Amino acid sequence: MEKKHLLIGVSGSIAAYKACDLVSACTKRDYEVKVIMTKSATEFVSPLTMHTLSSHPVLTDCFDKNNEDPIAHISLAKWADAFVIVPASANVIAKVVHGLADDSLTSTFLAATCPKLICPAMNVNMYENTVTQKNLEQAKALGYQVLEPSEGLLACHDIGKGKLPDTNTLLEAIDNLWIEKKLAGKKVLISAGPTQEALDPVRYITNHSSGKQGYAIAKAAISMGATVKLVSGPVALEKPNGVDVIDIVSAQDLYDAMTANQQWADFIIMSAAVADYRPQTMAQEKIKKSDDDLNIALTRNPDILQSLGNHKKKGQIICGFAMETSDLDAHAKEKLEKKNCDMLIGNHLFTEGAGFKGDTNVVTFITKDTLEHWPKCTKSELGYKILDQMIQLEKEKQ
Ligand code: PMT
Repeated sequence: MEKKHLLIGVSGSIAAYKACDLVSACTKRDYEVKVIMTKSATEFVSPLTMHTLSSHPVLTDCFDKNNEDPIAHISLAKWADAFVIVPASANVIAKVVHGLADDSLTSTFLAATCPKLICPAMNVNMYENTVTQKNLEQAKALGYQVLEPSEGLLACHDIGKGKLPDTNTLLEAIDNLWIEKKLAGKKVLISAGPTQEALDPVRYITNHSSGKQGYAIAKAAISMGATVKLVSGPVALEKPNGVDVIDIVSAQDLYDAMTANQQWADFIIMSAAVADYRPQTMAQEKIKKSDDDLNIALTRNPDILQSLGNHKKKGQIICGFAMETSDLDAHAKEKLEKKNCDMLIGNHLFTEGAGFKGDTNVVTFITKDTLEHWPKCTKSELGYKILDQMIQLEKEKQ
């Protein structure tokens, strides 16, 4: 298979050292990589390093007499299937959003017509400066993808937003450049993970949900161009880049967050595993053990999906989930109707490769007119399939 042509522009930031790892990782995948470096970038990393890693000469100066191609910036722009600036300094971002083309990187960027991704990395104050923020907004308005930097201890010893994300996150963002933006302009609200219902300050009732399924749907939605809010129970997963994550603990918190955002959303997906019951009262002090048995009175939590279904706004598509241990199809169909969902994804706890924690799922897909058994797939693949079905249902409803 022919490899995709990836042009990587490296600008002057200490994070340039991480671009070396990215170039190496990309060449080991589906990409043929060529690199352009600004003069400042070459202060941090040698062009020889990038030449060696990419197996291609590096363009640093359009006017260098040694260039084999006298119009390399145009040839490279035509060669590229995608152009990524990584790391993108505040200076280079300012230039490319205003059409400045005073070096090989910015000239090629202006000439390139392929999809473009900007990966900012800089000091937190430079990143948060209104000018940089306006420039990034402008970049998005011009149709460029922007990868949010991560937060943490920066090379300048400040703590805050401005770190270049790790290689896997960069690779994911690059892969996403090839995914059709079928959800551009759409708002997707997703719930994920378990809820915790406190018994006392020490203990709680919960379930085995890892959040993997809901997070996979959120990542798929972002890569398809949606604006995504993810209401997440306590999980040990990294927050997906570009997603607005709302952390919750209990079913009541989840209810509050989902209902507060219902009107905002075009699509809603309830993949969270919600506790149906909570302790009637939460003890203020740790419950002490005694020689007697302990009975705990439980009370019903709100049925969030049912409430969302009852208050569905015009044109809104709602997808519920069902986790069952018997008669999956019958119970799932019942839930679809009772909770007024447009579609439902049923998974059976005892099916190999389905349900909690793993990276795969095996599901029954149900709408009012359809019942299909989908083969085992990754939770990520399932995310795309669910969103495609929601797009289809929305079209049918119009
Ligand atoms: O997180 P993972 O480890 O990746 O696992 C994925 C998953 C198994 C959690 C996911 O695939 C799944 O099945 N989620 C739904 C689990 C569940 O709560 O199923 P249920 O049959 O009890 O609930 C039916 C639907 O009503 C679900 O959409 C649920 O979110 C919703 N619900 C349930 C109870 C309640 N009080 N309010 C609700 O809204």
